Amino acid sequence: MELGTFARHRRLRSSESMRRLVRETELTPSHLVYPLFVEAGLSGRQRIPSMPGQDRLGLDALAEEARDLARLGIGGVMLFGLPAAKDELGSGAWAADGVVQQAIGRLKDAAPELVVMADVCLCEYTSHGHCGPLSADGSVDNDAALPLLAETSVSLARAGADVIAPSDMMDGRVLAIRRALDAAGFTTVPILSYAAKFASGFYGPFREAADSAPAFGDRRGYQMDPANGRMALGEVLADLEQGADMVMVKPALPYLDVIRAVRERTTVPVAAYNVSGEYAMVMAAAHNGWIDLDRVVDETLTGIRRAGADIVITYHAKQWAARR
Ligand code: PBG
Repeated sequence: MELGTFARHRRLRSSESMRRLVRETELTPSHLVYPLFVEAGLSGRQRIPSMPGQDRLGLDALAEEARDLARLGIGGVMLFGLPAAKDELGSGAWAADGVVQQAIGRLKDAAPELVVMADVCLCEYTSHGHCGPLSADGSVDNDAALPLLAETSVSLARAGADVIAPSDMMDGRVLAIRRALDAAGFTTVPILSYAAKFASGFYGPFREAADSAPAFGDRRGYQMDPANGRMALGEVLADLEQGADMVMVKPALPYLDVIRAVRERTTVPVAAYNVSGEYAMVMAAAHNGWIDLDRVVDETLTGIRRAGADIVITYHAKQWAARR
């Protein structure tokens, strides 16, 4: 009996130059955004135990960090603040001399070419750790949060932020923020909305790093149910109607299908956040000698880009760019 013919796929895998020639997905530092935790009152750097290789930075450590990241060609940073004090409303978020507002100035002075994104949320600033003010029943009061998020955004734009990135998951916040930015004269400052943000167990290490764990309950009343991909697309389209310039899917690895769906259904840049728990898993396995760190990081970041992300927000950014 005559055997059928078969394709020789290995012809295009025979050497590194051949593999490079036919490579579909490119990863460059310019696509990467590096998250930074800035702590009020801290001098220098402080290790984050649950995220080996990541530090909280004092304001005095930012200029050097910014120059290092810019020299490596990293596209931008995403800023999170640890304020000196917290209160019920989270007023540290919009203080003109707040820790992130001060950080932005330092970063832009040291490396103007680095795109500075400011995460907008109240959970790092509220005494209860939720992402907005509370109603009498203990749930987050959506509409009371909106003016606070808008005021925070204007204050961050005034401090020099290049991108405003709301991560609170309140309904209507993109519209409220866009209107407030425009009214304050910041018509040119874009919004990257954390549009499809899931209520995830993968945020654990971040909450230690940013000291932002909710004091009671969880975030399932505002962040998305991990089971819902269609609804995630609905969140994305709603944020675009409200004026978002870019949209984010978060976390990345358990939601690659959502990244792909958003890529196919929109024309805007799509960002994916490779979150703290995804980072911690890789670092822990590598530390134990169970995986090869460099290979797994390459594969992770490439996979997120292949799924359709233009921008990858990742704690691996600096180390990856440094060894490349
Ligand atoms: C603030 C915020 C969180 C993250 C980014 N912005 C934490 C949360 O929603 O609990 C998580 C990032 C990470 O895990 O790396 N709301």
